Amino acid sequence: MPRRARLFAIVPAAGRGERFGGRHPKQYAALLGRPVLSWSLGALLAVPSVRAVVVALSEGDRRFARLPEARDPRVRTCRGGARRELSVANALEALYGEARDEDWVMVHDAARPCLHPSDVRQLVAALEGDPVGGLLALPVGDTLKTAGRDGRCDRTVPREGLWRALTPQMFRYGVLRRALRLNLERERVVTDEASAVEALGLRPRLVTGRTDNIKITLPGDRGLAAAILQAGWDNNDENRARLRRSRI
Ligand code: CTP
Ligand code: MG
Repeated sequence: MPRRARLFAIVPAAGRGERFGGRHPKQYAALLGRPVLSWSLGALLAVPSVRAVVVALSEGDRRFARLPEARDPRVRTCRGGARRELSVANALEALYGEARDEDWVMVHDAARPCLHPSDVRQLVAALEGDPVGGLLALPVGDTLKTAGRDGRCDRTVPREGLWRALTPQMFRYGVLRRALRLNLERERVVTDEASAVEALGLRPRLVTGRTDNIKITLPGDRGLAAAILQAGWDNNDENRARLRRSRI
């Protein structure tokens, strides 16, 4: 009988948050009294089938150890790399020997604190039995333009068939490791796992996610993320108490 595939998670959290700015990297910015990274990890840890979460941290990171999630027995850390895909590749190596090729690995940006556990379950359910894997994504809703250097429209791009890639992205361990290794060999820069997997000639499945799974990129995104999390807390007493103690 084939063994049941297990589920591991990876959180790249070694970025510098240059576009966000501020004193600390954005994954440690406060969001309703908790660092952004706590929220992102919390959404993954809320799913019992996640066996372990490997968090890739920048060298000399002393903030992570202070998070309550750092003491969770399912959480471990590894050294991040100079680019996002190198951080993910290091975390995959940290699982080498433990994760089997057919096991699932879910990669989720530290900078996406509004991930709802229902979206994690949705992704897992949609990919059950899938040989490749896939990602949460959203069909593009706005009209798209290409622009010239002068800031004027060159043309309008039909949005039909265009999607925005979100995280988590979930692939078989063997497929993702092979994809990222090939990517490094060819010295190609990729900004998500799916594009590395596509380069193998495979076609990841697009799974429609929630629109509120935003990535904190610019300073204004923090207020938006706070509003999203607050809106989701209406019927939750513990969260309401937290909200009263919150700083923003
Ligand atoms: N990341 C990482 N290792 C890197 C670069 C990025 O683990 N060398 C992580 C970030 O911490 C973030 C995620 O990848 O959780 C998505 O990247 P992005 O939003 O670009 O974050 P930063 O690279 O930190 O931001 P910026 O590009 O503005 O500097
Ligand atoms: Mg970046």
